[in-house]
Amino acid sequence: MKEQLFDPRRKIFICNNESVMVDFAVNHFIACAKHAIKKYGSFFVALSGGSTPKLIYRKLSSDYRNAIDWKKVVLFWSDERSVGIDHPDSNYKMAIDSGLGNLSIPSHQIFRMEGEKNALHGAEEYEKLLYQKLGKRPFDLIMLGMGEDGHTASLFPDTTALGEKDRRVVANWVEKLQTWRITFTIPWINQAENTVLYVIGTKKKERLYDVLYDKSDSYPASKIGTLMHPALWIVDKEASELLLKEDPIRKAS
Ligand code: 6PG
Repeated sequence: MKEQLFDPRRKIFICNNESVMVDFAVNHFIACAKHAIKKYGSFFVALSGGSTPKLIYRKLSSDYRNAIDWKKVVLFWSDERSVGIDHPDSNYKMAIDSGLGNLSIPSHQIFRMEGEKNALHGAEEYEKLLYQKLGKRPFDLIMLGMGEDGHTASLFPDTTALGEKDRRVVANWVEKLQTWRITFTIPWINQAENTVLYVIGTKKKERLYDVLYDKSDSYPASKIGTLMHPALWIVDKEASELLLKEDPIRKAS
């Protein structure tokens, strides 16, 4: 099972079914963790919200719970909704409840975005925290999803955060949802050693095609990946239907 190069900024792994996808994603996570722990003695990862990561967190914290030294793992989040930790929409709650809370990650190594705070203030605080904990070191892994509108993290189309050049974390007003979000920015995501986007389901096939073939990078998710750090797209057969029509040589595993 191996990913293919999609273009110089992106790699892609297309899988036949959910279980192949989750296994591949979990193994990728473990490989990134082992590499970072060997190199730095710790693994800094930023988690995402969304349905696919949930399956990955479940698998990591059950079948693969002994695959990593969890005491060396440091958890952050790449975005958060404007809610507290008990709210069903909380990305923090989702990850912790999906099993990551049962692992031996020390609580002082788990850094959530405080969605219940004023978003501008919450974003500033989180950015300070990143400078304190990481300094100039980039993340070892940033996990992301993609919405049907081509958003990633909480970087929605036509929102101000997309124009951000200097900040690592910002508050982003999302007009169509009438809500604030706290989110990593494109330049900060693109500094990560590894970025991965998980996309499943037939509902996303048009957008996945548009995003990957969009020459002008107009969708937020199109902007992820650089020549130095190509993004990895892990997608299922349903989501990749149009890509496979365009290039039938690409095969699903
Ligand atoms: C969030 C996310 C968001 C998500 C996509 C895909 O907080 O919702 O971080 O960017 O990853 O919307 O979500 P699904 O995998 O559930 O479709």
